[in-house]
Amino acid sequence: MLKAAIVGATGIVGQQFLVALNKHPWISIAALAASERSAGRSYREAITDPKSGALRWFCEEPPVEEVMELPVQNAIEMDTDGINLIFSAVESEQAKILEPAFAAKMPVISTASAFRYETDVPVLIPGVNSEHARLIEKQRKGRRWQGFITTQPNCTTTGLAITLKPIYQNFGIRAVVMTSMQSLSGAGRSPGVLGLDIIDNVIPFIVGEEEKVQRATQKILGALERGSISPAAFNVSCTCTRVNVKEGHTEAVFVSTAEKCSVEDVIKAMKKYASVLSDSGLPSAPQQMIVIHDDPFRPQPRLDRTTEDGMATVVGRVRPDGVLPNGIKYVLVSHNTKMGAAKGAVLVAELLIKEGYIR
Ligand SMILES: NC(=O)c1ccc[n+]([C@@H]2O[C@H](COP(=O)([O-])OP(=O)(O)OC[C@H]3O[C@@H](n4cnc5c(N)ncnc54)[C@H](OP(=O)(O)O)[C@@H]3O)[C@@H](O)[C@H]2O)c1
Repeated sequence: MLKAAIVGATGIVGQQFLVALNKHPWISIAALAASERSAGRSYREAITDPKSGALRWFCEEPPVEEVMELPVQNAIEMDTDGINLIFSAVESEQAKILEPAFAAKMPVISTASAFRYETDVPVLIPGVNSEHARLIEKQRKGRRWQGFITTQPNCTTTGLAITLKPIYQNFGIRAVVMTSMQSLSGAGRSPGVLGLDIIDNVIPFIVGEEEKVQRATQKILGALERGSISPAAFNVSCTCTRVNVKEGHTEAVFVSTAEKCSVEDVIKAMKKYASVLSDSGLPSAPQQMIVIHDDPFRPQPRLDRTTEDGMATVVGRVRPDGVLPNGIKYVLVSHNTKMGAAKGAVLVAELLIKEGYIR
C-alpha cells in the first residue's frame, strides 16, 4: 500500500481527495496538510467553523470518519518521512513554492495551475494522453529531482478535451468555440463566490479561465515528439461564466472539423472511444469516459454529474452546426471536483503506479 499526503486537504478539492482515497486498494492517506491557520488541529477541528460550530464539509458523500482525527500539518513544514506521493490541492501561488520542494524528493500530482504550462510538465488525462507521462523522465533529469510534478487540466478543460479527443482522432479539428456555465464549487472555498453575488444571477467572467482552457486543450491534445509536446494546431475560443449550480460544469461546444462528418459519425466515434479505460485495471477508471444521451433535455448537472461516480463526461444534443465549416455542436456536463480535480488526479496516480513512475 502506498502512502499519500494531501496538501490543501481542508479545501473543496482536498475534501474530494479524502473521498476518492477512502478505502482505495492501492493508496492510503497518511498525512494531511493545509495553511498555518489549520495546522495543529485535528482535521475535524480544522473544517469546523469556529463561530457556528458547523462542519464545513462540501462533498455529497458523508465525511470520511477514518481520517477526521488525523492532525493537519502546516504544508511548508510537513513531515514527509514514509510518504510515497503527494496530492496537491492548493492555489497556484502556494503551489509555486510548495510543489517544487516536494517534487525534489517524491511524486507530486497537482490540481493547481502553477506548473501546468511548463514544457517538461505533463497535463494528464488517462486514456486521452497517457503517453505524455514520458515527459516525467525529461523533467526529472532536467530539474535533478527524485520526484516530479504532473498537473491536472483546469476543471473546465477536462470534459472538453475528453470529448474532443475522438473527434480530433477521427476527423481532425479546425476550430473550437465553447461557452461554459461553471458551478460554484469550481471557485473553491476561499474566496469562493458570495451567495448574494450569484443568487438570481450569471457572472459573465472568470479571471484567467478562458486563457487556461485554450492553452491546456491544445497541450493535452498535442503530440509528444522527440521529448516535447507540439500543441494541437487548432484554435479554441471560449466564454467562461459562473452559474448558480453547486457542482458540475456545463459547456456548449461548437467544433469545426477538418474532414466533413455527420452527427452519426461523431456519436459513433465517441461511443467507440468511450471504453478506452474499461480494461485498464485502474481502480478509479470509468467504464465509459463519455456517456451520450439522445434525450434533448440532457445532460443536466443535477441529473448527470455523478454518472460513473463523476468520472464520465455526459454529452447530449449532438447536432449539425450550419455556421461553422463542417460544424458539429453538443452540450456536455463534467464533474469539476471529481474527474475535473481530485478523483481525476487519483486516476493519474493509478496510471503512474501501473507504469512504474510511482513506487
Ligand atoms: N474547485 C474546483 O472545482 C477545482 C477543480 C480543478 C482544480 N482546482 C484547483 O485546485 C486547487 C484547490 O482548489 P479548491 O477549490 O479546493 O480551493 P479551496 O477550497 O479554497 O482550498 C484551498 C486549500 O489550500 C489551503 N491553503 C491556503 N493557503 C495555504 C498555504 N499558504 N499553505 C498550504 N495550504 C494552503 C487551504 O487551507 P486552509 O483551510 O488552512 O486555509 C485549503 O485547504 C486550486 O489550485 C484550484 O485552481 C479546483
